[in-house]
Amino acid sequence: MKGEKVTLENELASNQGAELLRVEGLSKTFPSGTSELVLFENLSFQMRKGEMLAIIGESGAGKSTLLHILGALDRPSEGDVYCAQFRLNTLSAEEAADFRNRQIGFVWQFHYLLPEFTALENIAMPLLLRGRRRRDAERESAEWLREVGLQDRAHHRAGELSGGEQQRVALARALVTRPQILLADEPTGDLDDRTAESVFALIARLHSEHQLTSLIVTHNLAFAGRCGRVLHLQRGRVEEISPESLAVTIGQSLFSRSGVPCSLPPSGQAD
Ligand SMILES: Nc1ncnc2c1ncn2[C@@H]1O[C@H](COP(=O)(O)OP(=O)(O)OP(=O)(O)O)[C@@H](O)[C@H]1O
Ligand SMILES: [Mg+2]
Repeated sequence: MKGEKVTLENELASNQGAELLRVEGLSKTFPSGTSELVLFENLSFQMRKGEMLAIIGESGAGKSTLLHILGALDRPSEGDVYCAQFRLNTLSAEEAADFRNRQIGFVWQFHYLLPEFTALENIAMPLLLRGRRRRDAERESAEWLREVGLQDRAHHRAGELSGGEQQRVALARALVTRPQILLADEPTGDLDDRTAESVFALIARLHSEHQLTSLIVTHNLAFAGRCGRVLHLQRGRVEEISPESLAVTIGQSLFSRSGVPCSLPPSGQAD
């Protein structure tokens, strides 16, 4: 508009809500003996910048495989993923690595920290690999340690930290390069209920404070219900369900790994 000052804040604000991820007709099959295992077929969905999406589904439904494809760690058998102006199918191995480095922060169920290195050194690692000066990398890493509430653990070796603290460090390491997208595969799956709750709350806070676009695979329906959107991967198809109707739609026994029916937790609590 005439006379209006275009500031960086305005520009960022106007980009909030723009489409960031588009999945079109995605299929994944694996060879299985003489036949094929069709993991999923013709999946399509979009995400807008700033959204937080939970991916739920039974063990073996293909959630991790889907996340790997979205993070350019694996390729689909058919279909396309468009992410932040990239068409992932067309990227060379080198371009895919560059896409991951710049756009994606990964968090896994197991933290994969280097146990002999300190919390600070683990967080600084992605910056050092990018050629950042050690002093700058350590200053930025110290800021991220504060963000995840571990400023007093900077010089502890990762192997000396508790499971919850290790996952906090892993989150800081994922975000220190300031990616747009957070891909988390069962980030609280290896933690006790109370610690899982605090790590999930931290993810939710970092998501909104850093305007991330987050996809979180979880078996915890209470956590899924606290994400803005929920995708249910089931029998090779994806269905979007409203977080509010999660309990009613899915039924009570779906996510028991042991086969023993498990009850849904009350809304807002860990399972
Ligand atoms: N490289 C591969 N070759 C053959 N089969 C594979 C390969 N990777 C995954 N699978 C199979 O695909 C299926 C889905 O695996 P995936 O790890 O994506 O499931 P998931 O939904 O993440 O399960 P969980 O909740 O247990 O983590 C499994 O049956 C698995 O054995
Ligand atoms: Mg998995």
